[in-house]
Amino acid sequence: MDNLQHQSTAGSSHVGSGDKPSPPPSPRPSPTYTVAPTLPQPPYLPDTVLESDEILNPANLEVIAICGSGYVYRCPAGCAYKMHASRHEFDMMRAAGDCSVRPLSRVLRRTKTGQIRQRGILMELATPFDVQAVAPCDRGAVKDEMVALVDRLHDEYNMVHGDIKPANLVRHRDGTLRFCDFDNARRTIPHDGEQPWDFAGHTSRYLSPRRRLGHESPPTKDDDRYALAASLWELYTGEDPPAHEDDWTVVGPRKPMDLAAVADDDAREYIRLIFEQHSARVATRGATAKRGLCE
Ligand SMILES: Nc1ncnc2c1ncn2[C@@H]1O[C@H](COP(=O)(O)OP(=O)(O)OP(=O)(O)O)[C@@H](O)[C@H]1O
Ligand SMILES: [Mg+2]
Repeated sequence: MDNLQHQSTAGSSHVGSGDKPSPPPSPRPSPTYTVAPTLPQPPYLPDTVLESDEILNPANLEVIAICGSGYVYRCPAGCAYKMHASRHEFDMMRAAGDCSVRPLSRVLRRTKTGQIRQRGILMELATPFDVQAVAPCDRGAVKDEMVALVDRLHDEYNMVHGDIKPANLVRHRDGTLRFCDFDNARRTIPHDGEQPWDFAGHTSRYLSPRRRLGHESPPTKDDDRYALAASLWELYTGEDPPAHEDDWTVVGPRKPMDLAAVADDDAREYIRLIFEQHSARVATRGATAKRGLCE
């Protein structure tokens, strides 16, 4: 816990507003620790803390991930700190209830001119989730968890995540799968006094055909379901979904995703149905209808 440089694990494939997109590296995190249920609960923290608070003493922070917007650190006492995270993201995490890793505090910085600016978010520490390391015998159960999580976020909390991918899943200490990274999230029912949705980047490998054409438009539940299907394809194949052939524009043909590589009949049909609903290009390979290429 004394070195800011070591153990950075998650490469970022996130393309932010104004950034020059580059071919995405693997977004797969490799957890270097597991949060046990016996880990003491994080301490009580007020709604806001200053960046100078002892809990953020750099000597005690350890990098969990280098991401699009900066770093996510592991802090003492079972907390994690995401730098450069917005007020909007904090509000969305709260709104998502137990579909989100638990937000604890907004971290503020006092500028030289005395202004107070949001600097990041303190949240409960969870275990990063490595979808490609799920054993084949556990894939069915994990698929059900992923589908149920998305359904609950949509139907119970009336929210869209906007950047669904396995790297944005974590295991909570209670064993449940939850989302992190709510920068792109929005409520489907507007809420007074909340910061409006603003384009905060996307992850092109999981981007629906609709968003590929107008990727700065607000994400919908259907866009989330496409991203879920691409994530399930990754769960069953153990491979990153293919990148777009021209990642500089994001628009354009995606390299084919081979549905025949999904060995489970139910999962394959679930994924196929969602891809077809998105009018993604589908081609069958060979005589059997179970083999096919999807955009
Ligand atoms: N509370 C947490 N506890 C443990 N790990 C976390 C927590 N929050 C995030 N992480 C890990 O940090 C990684 C990056 O976090 P997050 O996705 O929020 O950042 P980001 O900048 O939006 O990422 P990207 O731009 O790569 O999508 C996640 O993939 C996850 O593995
Ligand atoms: Mg992320």
